[in-house]
Amino acid sequence: MPVSPHLTGRSWWRDAVTYQIYPRSFADANGDGVGDLPGATARLSHLRDLGVDALWLTPFYPSPQHDHGYDVADYRDVDPLFGDLADADALIAEAHRLGLRVIVDLVPNHTSSAHPWFQEALTAPPGSPPRDRYLFRDGSRAAGRSRPPNNWRSVFGGPAWTQVPDGQWYLHLFDASQPDLNWRNPQVAAMLESVLRFWLDRGVDGFRVDVAHGLIKEASLRDQLIAPAAAEQEHAMVERVDADEPMWDQPEVHDIYRSWRRLLDEYSSDGSDQRILVAEAWTRTPESLARYVRPDEMHQAFNFAWLLADWSAKEFEEVVRGTLDALASVTASPTWVLSNHDVVRHPTRYGGGAVGLARARAATLAMLALPGSAYLYQGEELGLEQVEVPEEHRQDPAWLRTRESARPEVGRDGCRVPMPWSGEAPPYGFGPGTGQPWLPQPAEWAALTVAAQTGTAGSTLEFYREALAARRTHALPAGDDVILLGDSSGRSYGEDVFAFRRGPLTVVLNAGTTDVPVPQGDVVIASGGLARGMLPPDTCVWLTAS
Ligand code: GLC
Repeated sequence: MPVSPHLTGRSWWRDAVTYQIYPRSFADANGDGVGDLPGATARLSHLRDLGVDALWLTPFYPSPQHDHGYDVADYRDVDPLFGDLADADALIAEAHRLGLRVIVDLVPNHTSSAHPWFQEALTAPPGSPPRDRYLFRDGSRAAGRSRPPNNWRSVFGGPAWTQVPDGQWYLHLFDASQPDLNWRNPQVAAMLESVLRFWLDRGVDGFRVDVAHGLIKEASLRDQLIAPAAAEQEHAMVERVDADEPMWDQPEVHDIYRSWRRLLDEYSSDGSDQRILVAEAWTRTPESLARYVRPDEMHQAFNFAWLLADWSAKEFEEVVRGTLDALASVTASPTWVLSNHDVVRHPTRYGGGAVGLARARAATLAMLALPGSAYLYQGEELGLEQVEVPEEHRQDPAWLRTRESARPEVGRDGCRVPMPWSGEAPPYGFGPGTGQPWLPQPAEWAALTVAAQTGTAGSTLEFYREALAARRTHALPAGDDVILLGDSSGRSYGEDVFAFRRGPLTVVLNAGTTDVPVPQGDVVIASGGLARGMLPPDTCVWLTAS
């Protein structure tokens, strides 16, 4: 496959920038208001122009779409909503032609309840082999079997168990339409291995592994010990209810990834054609995350600590130090991410409006100077904010499962509103039709389309293009060693400044409220305006020695 020169040589993924495409919201070719694979293929030149190295597609497989594709009914096909297998092949071929690697999503923790295995399990008796592919159990003995087998909560709110007509219950750590597979049953491992091969044979360059920390549960399925204060909590997508987690991060998950790594390595001859595994693992510490990227396991794991950090120089420094220290023990390289389809977009998290956007650009610029790989989420290059989606349009199961409860969760629809490409009114070039796509787009987005920002000095899109180019020229050749210049080094820049050196590159981010002097050197790029040698609040700058 022809690749751009910067992708050859050392393992391509170690410093790749990967752009996340959420297919239903990226581009709609057939005008039904929902994005699709042909739409994405037609827009891949946007990724090339941005200057990224790879793309990650969230699930496009046949699915009832209760969790927008994370409920997979057939792992080896394409949902008609998004196209067909020929469309997937065409997307992979076009991406490769443009020098972009393709990572697809693998959902091994659960299937859809519409998957043939689950349908078979429902009609099979308790204790039968079809039931053993999932986690079916009798109800709690103490309550005369009328209550769930244990006290686990679904990440999306409510109990993690649903009862079937014969009285047994099945486990679903997410929606009731997403039954958890029994990874202690060898048929499950064999099925997912054949799925890996299916997509590797079609030419994908890797897999983002959904809920990688969840596949194995403590065998006893015992109750979770929950602190009284946390027992009230309904939803735990990001915040964990308690330290006792018999459903997450069990030691045996690593055996699965070791076997997958061997399988993927069969497809690679050197670093330039390596196929990779990326863990979505919400573990508790940098050390537990590092276990997923030991040399014989996955290649990367999303570093959610960076995304969870507040707008704070101290927190940024702590995350960078913690990440680099933990990874040093396993010789893996770090990843950095600020937004994805599950979290509030980072300009909104940092306060929203002009301030939120300035901070988001600053944090992005600092991120792109760090060693390792970075993940971008579609629309962040336009400075899009989280949208307040009206209740009647919300589709996220986290909302649907909690809206009647004491603690309704607004859900994740607000970061999934379709991309604005061009034009003055919805769907802003998202599709050929007129009017609103599957989630309504805000009126303010007319000024934020790709077309409106292209060639516009100071636009967020041009800033991302420049930052990615500067990363290639100045950050990647600068080696992997980082020297943090904050508190620990005698506070050279003050406690509200996050600063580090990477080879000849110095990066300074002002998270305080007053200007700070820009250090000596030539400015490579800044996330906002610099005034008379001063770095204003909410701004980041890269310098090289003059
Ligand atoms: C992951 C996905 C999320 C999905 C969940 C269940 O966290 O990123 O979107 O809802 O897994 O599959």
